[in-house]
Amino acid sequence: MAATAAVAAAVLAERAAVAGGVAAPNSTTLGALAADRGVLYGSATSTFQLRNQTFAPLLAQEARLLVAEYEMKRSAIEPQPGRFDFGPSETLLNFASHNGMAFRGHTLVWHKANPPRLEGALASPAAKERTLAGYIESVAGHFRGRMHSWDVVNEALVPEDGRSDNLRNSLWLKAFGPAYIDLAFHTARATDPHALLVYNDWGCEGPSEKHDRFRAVTLDFLERAKARGVPIDAYGMQGHLQAFGPKVDQTKLHRFLDALKNLGLRILVTEHDVDDSGGSLDTAVRDAAVADASRRFLDVVLDNTATEAVLTWGLSDRFLDPPGWKDTLRGYSPRLLPLDVDFVRKPMWRFMAQSFTATRPRLRIGNL
Ligand code: XIL
Repeated sequence: MAATAAVAAAVLAERAAVAGGVAAPNSTTLGALAADRGVLYGSATSTFQLRNQTFAPLLAQEARLLVAEYEMKRSAIEPQPGRFDFGPSETLLNFASHNGMAFRGHTLVWHKANPPRLEGALASPAAKERTLAGYIESVAGHFRGRMHSWDVVNEALVPEDGRSDNLRNSLWLKAFGPAYIDLAFHTARATDPHALLVYNDWGCEGPSEKHDRFRAVTLDFLERAKARGVPIDAYGMQGHLQAFGPKVDQTKLHRFLDALKNLGLRILVTEHDVDDSGGSLDTAVRDAAVADASRRFLDVVLDNTATEAVLTWGLSDRFLDPPGWKDTLRGYSPRLLPLDVDFVRKPMWRFMAQSFTATRPRLRIGNL
């Protein structure tokens, strides 16, 4: 492993030099820079990625925290009701602990990526509780004591569904009513008391009135949950941005994060990437726009002392899934992440490094 890592580092250095150099010495990594300011930098990954002998050592160098991109979703861990497959997650977790990295779980309760026939089980009063709480006990119990954090509930808020509590009209809501949220978090706390319990969602960094409303809805949801004693430790901010879409509103984001902190919540950026579809086809223009969007976002996020971790949703563009979004039709490969398909550090890597390095205080609210 050590020899492979050295070779990979040398390759990286050479390629980076060819590509115009890196801002920081090559021995510096996002993980090291973030750690200097008390933040964990991490990445989503998969067993497929770890099989790449060049990439795996780079991932181990850059990241201090890993999460499964899809192999710990319910449909993967419980492919058939009651039949569990912890193999891939154990592979990821072993890689993380072997390399001194922390590991987080994604995700226990979601409206997507569920095994077939779950609705059927939820329709039966006898099996209902087992289908939610029993699953959490099995999975969080399997990993007890080994997890940095769990995304307990993912993407539960959709004001457009028309409910006064703004909850998504999901299979969970239909089966339990709003109480599924409480049940999920209490069960997770009882099962693995040491893991940080996270509510994970998106859509709180944009500039529009719709974003204003969603920020308010999110804060209201979290405040009420905290008030009735639901054990939510942290807000997971996915951080999926767009390079050529609505820009991050730094002032509004700053206020939103302050409000989260005032609720006593910790903040984790859980799935950061920058969709670069829809703009110029010039790679340099795209890379600059991606890096700029990331920096606008991370400067604000890192300015809040409640922020404890920043994860990108992958480290290299090489493994993007599905391969190519809208712009593959225009002959363009997406470049959403810090390293390109050849694992060369892109402007996004450098801007992230700068965000991690910058010292507080640097935001002047009202004059951004
Ligand atoms: C995505 C993965 O990246 C894909 O590989 C998978 O096919 C679908 O899910 N919000 C989430 C993540 O919480 O789980 C999603 O990940 C992206 C949006």
